[in-house]
Amino acid sequence: MSAVNTAPSSAPILALSGVTRSFGPIEILHGVDFALRPGEIHALIGENGAGKSTTMKILGGYLDPTTGEVTCDGQSVRFVNSDAAEDKGIVMIHQEFNLAEDLAVDQNVFLGRELRRGWRLDHKAMRSRTADLLTRLQCRVDPAAKVNRISVPDKQMVEIAKALSRDLRVLIMDEPTAVLTERECEILFTQIERLRAEGVAILYTSHKLGEIKRICDRVTVLRDGTMVKSAPVADITEEQMAAAMVGRDLSDLYPAKPVAGPDTVLEVENLSVPGVVSGANLVLKRGEVLGIGGLIGAGRTELAEAIAGLRPRHGTVRLLGHDLPAGLVQAAVEAGLAYLTEDRKGAGLLLDKGLRENLTLPLLHKFGKIMIDRKAEEAALDKAISDFAIRAPQRSMRVGDLSGGNQQKLLLAKTLLSDPQVVIIDEPTRGIDIGTKQQIYALIADLAEQGRSVIVISSEMPELIGLASRVVVMHGGKIAGELEGDQVAEGAIVRLAMGLGEHQEEAVA
Ligand SMILES: Nc1ncnc2c1ncn2[C@@H]1O[C@H](COP(=O)(O)OP(=O)(O)OP(=O)(O)O)[C@@H](O)[C@H]1O
Ligand SMILES: [Mg+2]
Repeated sequence: MSAVNTAPSSAPILALSGVTRSFGPIEILHGVDFALRPGEIHALIGENGAGKSTTMKILGGYLDPTTGEVTCDGQSVRFVNSDAAEDKGIVMIHQEFNLAEDLAVDQNVFLGRELRRGWRLDHKAMRSRTADLLTRLQCRVDPAAKVNRISVPDKQMVEIAKALSRDLRVLIMDEPTAVLTERECEILFTQIERLRAEGVAILYTSHKLGEIKRICDRVTVLRDGTMVKSAPVADITEEQMAAAMVGRDLSDLYPAKPVAGPDTVLEVENLSVPGVVSGANLVLKRGEVLGIGGLIGAGRTELAEAIAGLRPRHGTVRLLGHDLPAGLVQAAVEAGLAYLTEDRKGAGLLLDKGLRENLTLPLLHKFGKIMIDRKAEEAALDKAISDFAIRAPQRSMRVGDLSGGNQQKLLLAKTLLSDPQVVIIDEPTRGIDIGTKQQIYALIADLAEQGRSVIVISSEMPELIGLASRVVVMHGGKIAGELEGDQVAEGAIVRLAMGLGEHQEEAVA
């Protein structure tokens, strides 16, 4: 894909001038000027909490600016709501999904714009239009399936289908690829290309700078609510983007790999989860960072959940010499195991509660038997905020009002508060900015240095390679192979993940 803006001099479709936005007494955006032109793929990048989603919501009619002006086709506008923006062809795909979980896929796609025949709803037409859209996205989800039954990446594809069903002039996408596999990303990029060729303006955020370099025409950088740079992508390197985001040069992203000790802390023998994992064997040493790679759907999350007691299983899980009973989370936690879920919205956080409650809830017994020791709780929150660089404009805010990346950091802090011996982290840096990634990687290495053991499940190849001294790769519910030391490399992981075995280099090359 070329990084050439097809219409560099055309007038903006949508623009902001001098826009500020406050939540309560706190100003989040400070006088933002921004312009989006037809036929351009424009990236908005910045650290977690920099104000990307807020800017996008203002452009998409979901939020009002506190001061300043939004213009559409050169005219000053004030969208009363997102429907008013949609009437102008402006559609936004949110970072956290905006789907009605209890409704079917096709009902979601046409929600609020149901197709009718006469005065009756035309279910057949909606179902077949949805099927066509999903086919275009090579997504195999049944249009009649309830949204709460489909996978996270499929939900994202449904959001995209929903957006594509509109008459688009502007498509705003807030971290669409954070939850997609590589294959789905490619499909999405093809659609984005097609839209650009049709003259649609696309505003795009992602923490994957390689992706921005590849598909975007222009990049604008937000730092702490201020635009600090805007340039054609062709004129800026990934390193320069990262430096503009965090305001400093980033040295090595990955810490030195910890050296595992001789003791085994976790043994998994012949573990099966009916239908998803079969006959998995795994050993984890003290002080080790073990990676688990594989394609989405290979059974990685299910394996982790079975180990953590979140799923029924067959086979043995032995932690520090004790056999863990199947399907009992509490037993696993008490034995010293912590599991960080990949699905922060579904399972990880209570979005309506505050930071403190979310951090300490699972461990309240630690903070006093009868009376809760608020001071100790507050101190734990202080430490979490500083260890994980959590950016919360106000301590008392709802967790749901934290930026997406900061929610992920809080989840990580909560998981580690139980002082576990073994930590399993599923997709540790999903939606996390590059500066914070570096901090989280250092933290994982630190845990191992302290003699704890970490299993990292990741779909990001560089992350597995950069962090783990040993990588187990899954394919089709089985452990396809294991790589250690110098063998840990992209080609070898991909071969195993695709079920090609370890020694078939020529076959794939
Ligand atoms: N409704 C709200 N009430 C209070 N503060 C809010 C609200 N919505 C957002 N914020 C704050 O505004 C700041 C910017 O948040 P925003 O979601 O725009 O960040 P972001 O750049 O999208 O970050 P991320 O990469 O983590 O998604 C954050 O500090 C966030 O906590
Ligand atoms: Mg965001």
